[in-house]
Amino acid sequence: MKIVIPGGTGQVGTILSRALTAAGHDVVILTRRPVRDRDVRWDAETLGPWAKEIDGSDVVINLAGRSVNCRYTPDNLRAMMDSRVRSARVVGEAVAAAVRPPQVWLQMSTATVYAHRFDAPNDEVTGELGGTEPGVPGYWAYSVEIAKAWERAQEQAETPHTRKVSMRTAMVMSPDRGGVFEVLLRLVRLGLGGPVAGGAQYVSWIHDRDFVRAVEFLADRDDLAGPVNLAAPVPLPQRTFMRVLRAAWGVPVGLPATKWMAELGAFALRSDTELLLKSRRVVPGRLLEAGFAFDHPRWPEAADDLVRRLRDGPGSTM
Ligand SMILES: NC(=O)c1ccc[n+]([C@@H]2O[C@H](COP(=O)([O-])OP(=O)(O)OC[C@H]3O[C@@H](n4cnc5c(N)ncnc54)[C@H](OP(=O)(O)O)[C@@H]3O)[C@@H](O)[C@H]2O)c1
Repeated sequence: MKIVIPGGTGQVGTILSRALTAAGHDVVILTRRPVRDRDVRWDAETLGPWAKEIDGSDVVINLAGRSVNCRYTPDNLRAMMDSRVRSARVVGEAVAAAVRPPQVWLQMSTATVYAHRFDAPNDEVTGELGGTEPGVPGYWAYSVEIAKAWERAQEQAETPHTRKVSMRTAMVMSPDRGGVFEVLLRLVRLGLGGPVAGGAQYVSWIHDRDFVRAVEFLADRDDLAGPVNLAAPVPLPQRTFMRVLRAAWGVPVGLPATKWMAELGAFALRSDTELLLKSRRVVPGRLLEAGFAFDHPRWPEAADDLVRRLRDGPGSTM
């Protein structure tokens, strides 16, 4: 198949393009800075010659968006919103204008669209969308707004011949350099991988190979459209999640951090505490119902696998 991945140069795009290329597909990446052979330039905002790549392709997987790993300043929040909405909108325009439109457009979304909650898991049917939870910082509602606007940009695109799926994805755990797993492991190695602010907040995650398999599943299954959660079936409270990771690496202790310390640490790392403190209790209702079986449904086994691959070096990321 010909698969076009707008925004495919980042962490998730690298995982996907590596796996899809290895599976024999022709993968084209749309990027603002083309470097490699199958990279094609776009500006992520306006139609251009790049749209020819989408015409006649089989699958489009749009991942473009300003990284969320930053301080949530008004400027950064605006850039996070605009880059997502505009890129989804223009991908929709390219799909709509295609003479031979792709069969399916998989649009990245996020588990962050759901409410910060502890009491029950969020699936696609019974889950609560976020934005109105009491007692959380105001800007958390804005990141939910970003997620909703991102999904709306796809929903509103008039692409009658192309199936549309919005992938509400949890943190993708892979042994690649610079990914979220490596960051968490660095904290563990420094003895800092303990509970943050009590650690009751849930962490939703998905193993990189299950993520790739879920994307392939969604590309194949003609009967699935609309929002789909891409998250392992067992999210864990952050304190348990980190304890398991410490055990996988062989570090017995992890210093706990208060909310205040997390603020300082996030500031030093130019990141934001929302990524640490929001309880994302998200489960894969529709995937399981459709018969998708996770290879790595539970964190202890998944963490062991990721640690082993990281220790084995780059050759083992395949
Ligand atoms: N990583 C995760 O675990 C995870 C989980 C859920 C959802 N997501 C979402 O999935 C998408 C991909 O994640 P990722 O971790 O691969 O992100 P990433 O490493 O930050 O890559 C995102 C890509 O988007 C493009 N981009 C960045 N800023 C842009 C802007 N202002 N305008 C247009 N394009 C821009 C970049 O491509 P060029 O610079 O080459 O143009 C970049 O390669 C993101 O939207 C992210 O929010 C990620």
